[in-house]
Amino acid sequence: MTLTGPVLLHLLLLLLPVSARYFGHIAENSPVGTPVSGVLLPGGSHLNATLTGDYASDFRLVHHRDHRLGLVSAKALDREFIAMYQLTVQLPRGAAAVQVEVSDRNDNIPRFIGGNRTVEVHALTPLGTELARFDAKDGDAESNGRVTFYASPESHLLHVAPQTGQVRLVRSLLGVRQATLRLCVRDGGSVALIGDPVFLHLNVHRSGNPRKPRAVREDVVLSVSVPQQAALGDLLFTVPDQRFQQRWFQMLSEADSPVQIERDSGRVYLTRDLLEPAEVLLKIHNSRGKKRGSL
Ligand SMILES: *[C@@H]1O[C@H](CO)[C@@H](O)[C@H](O)[C@H]1NC(C)=O
Ligand SMILES: *[C@@H]1O[C@H](CO)[C@@H](O)[C@H](O)[C@H]1NC(C)=O
Repeated sequence: MTLTGPVLLHLLLLLLPVSARYFGHIAENSPVGTPVSGVLLPGGSHLNATLTGDYASDFRLVHHRDHRLGLVSAKALDREFIAMYQLTVQLPRGAAAVQVEVSDRNDNIPRFIGGNRTVEVHALTPLGTELARFDAKDGDAESNGRVTFYASPESHLLHVAPQTGQVRLVRSLLGVRQATLRLCVRDGGSVALIGDPVFLHLNVHRSGNPRKPRAVREDVVLSVSVPQQAALGDLLFTVPDQRFQQRWFQMLSEADSPVQIERDSGRVYLTRDLLEPAEVLLKIHNSRGKKRGSL
């Protein structure tokens, strides 16, 4: 018997040892039948191939005309449920390990943990005092899941740290009886999703002692937590100083400071990765006096 071209080809495929690893990916929520890209196994319609592994029924094998095997989705996949499948394609002559990553779509709206809050504050509470800290969850991965806090409408009394959700007093509460902050959260998707707002209510009273003794020194120490996922260039903080009409900001730390401050706005940006807690000294200049703070 003489071997013709196509028959010879079949034999070669059957003799190929199948012990390879494959890595594929598919976007979550893709329609049923979407091919997993990056996965094409040698095989053929004549082979009895089976797919095994946890939740293997989320996929099915498809036979291509070029005698190769591919995978397609059998349902819409949810990365927040399974981000990585470890599957095995059993072929008569061996098995192939197939990893399928489900890539993220920005399909989770950020949500505040906990609802509205009411805080009792003394009218003499020093500027810079943290009055509340909010947290939010977003089930998406990477920037799609990175939350940013902001006040809407903006508040003159209160500053919201965009990355950490810390709310600080930035203007005197004298003469104020009640204040409300409407706090929002958005994620970092290319089309940002915005969660339902929460409200921070302040009840200002004048009796008793303020939460912290009034600062007698001119130094103001502010501590700002920087979330681990902060990226270079992120706005970390705006120096809360509303006392001076005319002012500018200066960094007094050494040249390799992990942050940089905008001279006119007092905005502090991350300029290198933080490997450990860092303290930076900065100066707020104004026409009549000087004030120093370190954060
Ligand atoms: C494939 O293999 C399974 C078990 O190994 C067997 O039950 C089934 O009949 C086979 N199917 C074909 C089409 O050969
Ligand atoms: C939070 O406060 C706002 C405004 O005061 C109110 O409309 C909303 O229903 C409150 N939410 C909850 C969960 O209590």
